[in-house]
Amino acid sequence: MTGLPAGRKGRVCRRPTGQHVLPAPGAAASDSGAPPVLPCAELHLHIEGTLEPELLVRLAARNGVRLPTTDLAELRGRYRFTDLQSFLDLYYANLPVLRTEQDFYELAHAYLTRAAAAGVRRAEIFFDPQTHMANGVPLAAVVAGLSAALADGSARHGISADLILCFLRDLGAAAAAETLAAALPFREHFIGVGLDSAEVGYPPALFRDVFARAAAEQLQLVAHAGEEGGPEYVWEALDVLGAQRIDHGIRAMEDPRLVDRLRAEQIPLTVCPLSNVALRVVETLGAHVLPVMLSRGLRVCLNSDDPAYFGGYIDDNLAAVRRELGLTDAHLATLACNSFDACFAHDADKQRWKAEVDGYTAGAAPSPR
Ligand code: HPA
Ligand code: ZN
Repeated sequence: MTGLPAGRKGRVCRRPTGQHVLPAPGAAASDSGAPPVLPCAELHLHIEGTLEPELLVRLAARNGVRLPTTDLAELRGRYRFTDLQSFLDLYYANLPVLRTEQDFYELAHAYLTRAAAAGVRRAEIFFDPQTHMANGVPLAAVVAGLSAALADGSARHGISADLILCFLRDLGAAAAAETLAAALPFREHFIGVGLDSAEVGYPPALFRDVFARAAAEQLQLVAHAGEEGGPEYVWEALDVLGAQRIDHGIRAMEDPRLVDRLRAEQIPLTVCPLSNVALRVVETLGAHVLPVMLSRGLRVCLNSDDPAYFGGYIDDNLAAVRRELGLTDAHLATLACNSFDACFAHDADKQRWKAEVDGYTAGAAPSPR
């Protein structure tokens, strides 16, 4: 297996010179002897998917929302899925507990605190306004709560973060267009648009016009494709929507011509291994195509998708692929550099973060015990 070639611009991340220990989940970088944490960007994270059972129960009590159970073990026990739709059913059923600006603040604050401990320097965070508006929450409250948490995350943890507004593809193109129109008064609070929810039967081309409108607003364009849908969804996301990044994209590997295109153009793919296992997109983590994607020179990075539901945050994903796929420090450094290359931050920030990866790989970490 080899790492990715260097990106078309920017520096090359150095390969590691020594072995490093991935920190235990939740361990933070510190000067107290704890292992340093690999710096990375998280580019595929649904803020609604960070709703941990503890916060779910607390918000339900505060807002007078009835849950089928308030037993945490029982709630967690329900987090078993057979496919994307079975997950979405539970995910949407839990979201009525989010009612106020404060609720959205607490949700994003909890994520950013956890992400900081996981080494995240940059987060590009999806949110689903259609769900909240349908639940009777004003978009202004959603945006204000999330934006306040992002500002706080920057002040407290030094995390650079922005929001990406996702359209729910199963609600159709007209609803997406209405959502974008409703969101444009809050234009300065989000940097891009994405496409999520049930994939099969809702191909990207349905959303051509709303993506064109978003592009006219200088919004960044990303789309889920190639999670449950086939390679043709990835082609459409690129060619019809003009997506700059593909979320998931693992089924692109079924089409050699598409793989060539993704490599030639270094189109980022935000892969979510624990999500893919939880939603049975792959049978086991050991069977994941991630090593092949790396060996084919694709610009792939790791992400947690919906960490409260899929068994872990970004550091848990890194630890899992190291353990189950035998990825080395060099691979992890490549994934981290790819995440920075793929993000929508300023170039100077990208270079600074990639230099941090160099520092990590150059032996700043203690030897394994
Ligand atoms: N796929 C599609 N839509 C989603 C997901 C996902 O993994 N998580 C939240 N919305
Ligand atoms: Zn997703």
